[in-house]
Amino acid sequence: MNILITGGTGFIGLPLTQSLMREHNVIVWCRRPERVAAGATAVTSLDDIGDTTIDAVINLAGEGIADSRWSASRKAAIRDSRLGTTAALGAWLATRPQPPSVFISGSAIGFYGLESGDAPVTEADGGDDSFSSVLCRDWEQTAREACPAGTRLCLLRTGIVLGDGGALAKMRLPFSLGLGGPVGSGAQWMPWIHLDDIVSLIQFLLDDERASGPINATAPKPVSNREFAAALGRVLKRPAFLPMPAFAVKALFGQMGDELLLRGRKVLPATATALGFNFAFETLEAALQDVLRR
Ligand SMILES: NC(=O)c1ccc[n+]([C@@H]2O[C@H](COP(=O)([O-])OP(=O)(O)OC[C@H]3O[C@@H](n4cnc5c(N)ncnc54)[C@H](OP(=O)(O)O)[C@@H]3O)[C@@H](O)[C@H]2O)c1
Repeated sequence: MNILITGGTGFIGLPLTQSLMREHNVIVWCRRPERVAAGATAVTSLDDIGDTTIDAVINLAGEGIADSRWSASRKAAIRDSRLGTTAALGAWLATRPQPPSVFISGSAIGFYGLESGDAPVTEADGGDDSFSSVLCRDWEQTAREACPAGTRLCLLRTGIVLGDGGALAKMRLPFSLGLGGPVGSGAQWMPWIHLDDIVSLIQFLLDDERASGPINATAPKPVSNREFAAALGRVLKRPAFLPMPAFAVKALFGQMGDELLLRGRKVLPATATALGFNFAFETLEAALQDVLRR
């Protein structure tokens, strides 16, 4: 297949590109071609693709959501980078004589909003008016509009991806110094997924024609923030008892801290499981052991 990827230089997109290249021809639409995996084709404009038929599109591009406080301009950059890239893909796809067979577009578990509690959340659940929920809803709607008629659409509601980088890179130093611990009450859920599993899941969705609509990209056994902190402490062999109070999170990170660090719902991968996807890493401890050993 000829596969077009946006976000192919990122934490998920780079290993995904490298894995797909074993069987497919991968084209990465990006701003910084020097960061594209060797062997993939980098294009900085969709016009550079020319007449090549694209069989599948994977759309992951977007400004980092947890990189800094959410000022008005930061929120606009987070939204515009996702909605703008997706709409541009749609406009380009509409000009193609042959549509791709599948379009996999990013979203996140932020879709499900801020409600607290332990009720399991599946793809059938809705969201609320929080920034993350509206962002994901609008990103998914833009993908629906961008997806050509007859193309299968998968909307990937991704949890916290555990790999060498991403969220774990930010937690590693304080936990390694023995300064880690639960955030706020610690009761908020942290649905996670190993980087290898999200790469495999995207490949599974490319191939399995039964897959369409929203798909939670999270491991089958989500944990609370308190359990996450304890597991990370155990794997690093460090104490992890130092709590970070909610008021400190809000003072340091503002709305971003409130939505991303103090809240979280118990998201389950109902659709991936029903389709028979096998997670290589079902438990957090096994995932952390693997990532931190590498
Ligand atoms: N990692 C997670 O834990 C996680 C969790 C939930 C959802 N997600 C979603 O999954 C997607 C990929 O995540 P990631 O962790 O791989 O992200 P990442 O490492 O931050 O990579 C983001 C990618 O988007 C591109 N990008 C950034 N700003 C852009 C802009 N203004 N216009 C066009 N492209 C831009 C970057 O390409 P350049 O080389 O051009 O900069 C990069 O390839 C993101 O949309 C993210 O929201 C990730």
